[in-house]
Amino acid sequence: MATFQNSLPDLTRPFPPVDGPAIYIETYGCQMNTYDSQAIGGLLEGAGFRLVDNELAADAVLLNTCSVREHAEHKVISRVGEVRNRRRQAELGPVVIGICGCMAERLGDDLRKGPKAVDLVVGVDNYDALPGLLRGLTGAAAGTGGGRGAVTGHRLDAHYVAPPELYPVNNSHLVTIHKGCDYKCTYCIVPMTRGPQSEKAPDVILAEIADIVARGGREVTLLGQNVTAYRWQGSADFGPLDFAGLLERVAGIDGLERIRFLTGHPRDMHTHLMDVIGRLDKVCPWLHVPAQSGADTVLRRMKRLYTAGEYLDMVDHARRVIPDVTFSSDFIVGFPGETDDDFRATLDLIRRVQYDQIFSFKYSERPGVPAARLADDVPAEAKKARLAELMDVQQGIWARTAQAQVGQVVRALGEGPARRPPGAWRLRTPNNRKVVVLGPEVPAGAEATVRLTGWEATTFFGERLNA
Ligand code: 5AD
Ligand code: SF4
Repeated sequence: MATFQNSLPDLTRPFPPVDGPAIYIETYGCQMNTYDSQAIGGLLEGAGFRLVDNELAADAVLLNTCSVREHAEHKVISRVGEVRNRRRQAELGPVVIGICGCMAERLGDDLRKGPKAVDLVVGVDNYDALPGLLRGLTGAAAGTGGGRGAVTGHRLDAHYVAPPELYPVNNSHLVTIHKGCDYKCTYCIVPMTRGPQSEKAPDVILAEIADIVARGGREVTLLGQNVTAYRWQGSADFGPLDFAGLLERVAGIDGLERIRFLTGHPRDMHTHLMDVIGRLDKVCPWLHVPAQSGADTVLRRMKRLYTAGEYLDMVDHARRVIPDVTFSSDFIVGFPGETDDDFRATLDLIRRVQYDQIFSFKYSERPGVPAARLADDVPAEAKKARLAELMDVQQGIWARTAQAQVGQVVRALGEGPARRPPGAWRLRTPNNRKVVVLGPEVPAGAEATVRLTGWEATTFFGERLNA
């Protein structure tokens, strides 16, 4: 699920950090990157840097980037120019600019060449190099393109932890449980940028979540490229554990009320795992299971390792064993060789599943991935038209789903003030549906009983039934 996520540290904390060089971190891409940015923030603050919330206040700007589609990379490159321009317009001196994340891993030293060259490049497994690099650069003349070469390369043992004391524990707190991906979906750059799958130790995960709960957190989202493939082989501290086992252990943490997870691979959604999800009250009945396509020929060329029929069987089983379960998904349109009939099969799957939400993308050829050997032969116009049609179908499905919810009573967790209307409070249902209510404060983490009274776009309006 790719979104723009800018996660800012809590700059109002009562204990301001030391007066070191100021760092602004901006995050692109998925929630894994948001979590990594939080971990980077923790590493830097621990090393005496100060975190700030904009580029004009910074001595160094770090862009934590995504490579999943070409467009995401272009955005970052133009942002490098924009940061420099904004500094110039504000008559501020040059600033150190660093690129972290998937683009750093994919492009390495190339990012230190040309007109948009940046000062430092640090890949996904090397964030511990950042304090040293930044200390050297923020002391030296900024913006000179100086500093060491790109620090990239995979280290299976490098697992970072985002310190919850640095980021407000107010809604679904992110906890990365593993990194990388061992699947080889042919369109996907992630196995190259994030490397092989490697698990964070269960005792580390459980301690991290206990800490979040101790700081007032009530809900966590377990994160990974493929969380459902979690497989701890066993160690002196912990026996072997799969994802279902991990969910059971996490659900055992007192004070934790809700568990979500992202992203599940349909192939790993075994019946046993779904049975466990259905049995554990704390695990939310919302599954983000990207289908990518509804056509078996396309799924085969994508190497997704399931058929549309198997996917629908998974959905059927989930509906049987997980009360009130809802689904969301990712789809790619215009994958090489996708015919109009293939696309109709995708629409058919969408209609059958009745998703709450779909993230849909035009196929974007990534250099070096297996699908790059296939001709990118669906014309741009057809990709655009298919994307529009898919979104239209989904909008109709959601309109019917949302309308059918009006009048229902749900228990939702507070997430703090809503952006609008003024004075309203934002909540989220177990199904990951957003609700806005007026009236007395619903503090973050507090549960409220709400009657849904209407909806607009992806947000419900509601009225509180308990004061
Ligand atoms: N082109 C378009 N979309 C892609 N995704 C991954 N790789 C590509 C690509 N090359 C989409 C998938 C994935 C989501 C995170 O991004 O749908 O689930
Ligand atoms: Fe990419 Fe497939 Fe791995 Fe997801 S499961 S990260 S789409 S290779």
